[in-house]
Amino acid sequence: MDNSKSVSLAVIKRLPRYYRYLGDLLDNGITRISSKELSNKMNITASQIRQDLNNFGCFGQQGYGYNVELLYNEIKKILGLDKEYSIVIIGAGNIGQALANYVNFERRGFYFKALFDINPKLIGMTIRGIEVRDVDTLPDYLKNNPIDIAVLALPKANAKEVAAIVTNSGVKGIWNFSHIDLDKKAGVKFENVHLTDSLMTLSYKLNEDEIIERFNVLPKR
Ligand code: NAI
Repeated sequence: MDNSKSVSLAVIKRLPRYYRYLGDLLDNGITRISSKELSNKMNITASQIRQDLNNFGCFGQQGYGYNVELLYNEIKKILGLDKEYSIVIIGAGNIGQALANYVNFERRGFYFKALFDINPKLIGMTIRGIEVRDVDTLPDYLKNNPIDIAVLALPKANAKEVAAIVTNSGVKGIWNFSHIDLDKKAGVKFENVHLTDSLMTLSYKLNEDEIIERFNVLPKR
């Protein structure tokens, strides 16, 4: 009998935040925390925290709270951060280079192996020691190197074609900055990034008072 329960994407999306907060607590030598204290720090209700974490097991104890290290390590495993991932970036422009230059991904187990571009001026360059290769060599590269994740950081018009190459070459996940709708392919997971959505959310917050007055809504915190 299948006893599995479904976990909402909203819960999954909160897990990295729990992970970061717990990491900060550990760095500050805090070994134990109640859901109420965590709630105050994170600005999420204590019951939301308990509900979220109960999806995966009973990590807290009545009267004790959570063991920070234990919970941190459990969330690490749930997020798959106890493994290492090899990554290629396709499109070595502003975004591709910024990602390659960011060292902290490696701390989390994400390793950039190569960048690919179409522009001869960029091909042959290295970014933090990572080579920019000709995108024509991408299919061969993927055949010969086990790559887990491909980052799409190239213009929308060219991204579909590259996505098809990548999804047919054993890559398991695509981190998509290119604003294209990707065709679903069995075994390949997608995560779309929209920085502008985040900026528009900030813009909403800047104008929240007007919206509350206009629509007579109460902000839920
Ligand atoms: P960029 O123009 O600096 O870099 C794009 C790079 O892709 C260039 O180096 C170009 O030579 C390369 N390229 C073009 N066709 C290619 C192909 N077939 N194969 C390999 N490389 C190819 O652009 P930027 O600023 O890095 O943005 C990249 C993409 O991300 C754009 O489509 C942009 O609209 C989008 N974007 C997405 C954001 C998000 O939040 N998801 C935020 C900002 C931009």
